[in-house]
Amino acid sequence: MTSKFQAPKGVSEYFPPRSNQFDFVLRTLVGPALAAGYELIELPIFEDTELFTRGVGESTDVVSKEMYTFEDRGGRSITLRPEGTAGVMRAVIEHNLDRGQLPVKLFYRGPFFRAERPQAGRYRQFYQFGIEAIGVNDPQLDAEVIAIAYEGYKKVGLKNFSLHLTSLGDNESRAAHRMTLVDYIDKLDLDDETRNRASKNPLRLFDDKRPDIQAKMAKAPVLLDFLNDESRDDFSEVQESLRSINIPFEINPRMVRGLDYYTGTTFEFVHSGLGAQSGIGGGGRYDGLMATLGGQDLSGIGFGLGIDRILLAMESEKIALPIESYTDLFVISLGEAARKRGFIIVQELRNQGFVVKQSYGDRGLKGAMKAADKSGARYSIVIGDAEISTGSVELKEMATGEAVSVTLSALASTLAEKSR
Ligand code: HAM
Repeated sequence: MTSKFQAPKGVSEYFPPRSNQFDFVLRTLVGPALAAGYELIELPIFEDTELFTRGVGESTDVVSKEMYTFEDRGGRSITLRPEGTAGVMRAVIEHNLDRGQLPVKLFYRGPFFRAERPQAGRYRQFYQFGIEAIGVNDPQLDAEVIAIAYEGYKKVGLKNFSLHLTSLGDNESRAAHRMTLVDYIDKLDLDDETRNRASKNPLRLFDDKRPDIQAKMAKAPVLLDFLNDESRDDFSEVQESLRSINIPFEINPRMVRGLDYYTGTTFEFVHSGLGAQSGIGGGGRYDGLMATLGGQDLSGIGFGLGIDRILLAMESEKIALPIESYTDLFVISLGEAARKRGFIIVQELRNQGFVVKQSYGDRGLKGAMKAADKSGARYSIVIGDAEISTGSVELKEMATGEAVSVTLSALASTLAEKSR
């Protein structure tokens, strides 16, 4: 049926059976974060617009072209969150979460909004799972954050992905590189718009997809060659730590992240089965962000993993859902008295932890059996007047058709035994 209403253009939606996979991915990714002591932070989906213009940076596409910004009824400029890090920093500062033990370790998940041109794997509302570790600058923490993402991908079953790694160094390293890069860019023949973008953040030109700009940037100096001793040592230790736990990576000195706050270690996970939108997650360190937003001058590191793209990647690798949606028992009740008794039995079994479905309405045995077949339940029972008077039912295994007689009082224990 064509509905009068359709979802807004370019949003991702999840409904059964695929929503089971979505749920599985979220539950799986959180495991390695919990194991490393990260705790949930649940934040608003809209924030003061300036949080993102300041935090994410005006040179970025995300801020300059892709924000869903509107005025609320009180005349305030509000933006639907395009990413999670700025909001987490705002909350950490506002609620003094950084006044206790450091690092503060937080994870979050939920929808994010960017007004991008929709295509496969690129949506206007999409989902991320993210973590942030704030207040400690230790290369082992960088490796820990990367390891959490890596383990998450492995746990959902992905194989065909790789980790790209670089370092954007500290302020001193970036300043040295910037001077040389700006000199190089000044000598290029560029249109005004591109030159303007480069003046805000010259690194952006590395990320320009146009072939002529790519050709012009082919010999541009890369930041990795300008790291001072401290930044170089830190980056070496990150690599050494990753090697020590067998996490493979490639150094990609030309990688540019889409957000301006990055410093030091930055990384992206790329999947080979996704075409143009191959980034299944990314992150890095952000030294100045908290101070920029009015907080203490603490460093942080984190990542955001794209749930929508992880699902597409799983499909490209033909990864079946390890846990199918599962039903233990389907209960068919025939007749008024049986319906009343059946309802109570169903509730009791559910309260004991079994997944139980039932027939509704007066469908008759044939219709109800069809529903039982389709339900995917392992077992079914039929309750009628006879079963109520004898107090026992036939417990039928759906796959084989085999049935055993079980008293109603022993139904739970029999089901428990059979599913062991
Ligand atoms: P990001 O690289 O902009 O980083 O986004 C992280 C991931 O979200 C991407 O790798 C991609 O998988 C997914 N993603 C981004 N945009 C879309 C879209 N339009 N449609 C579908 N998926 C998308 C951040 O957002 C940073 N906050 C990550 C971070 C946390 N860095 C430090 N801490």
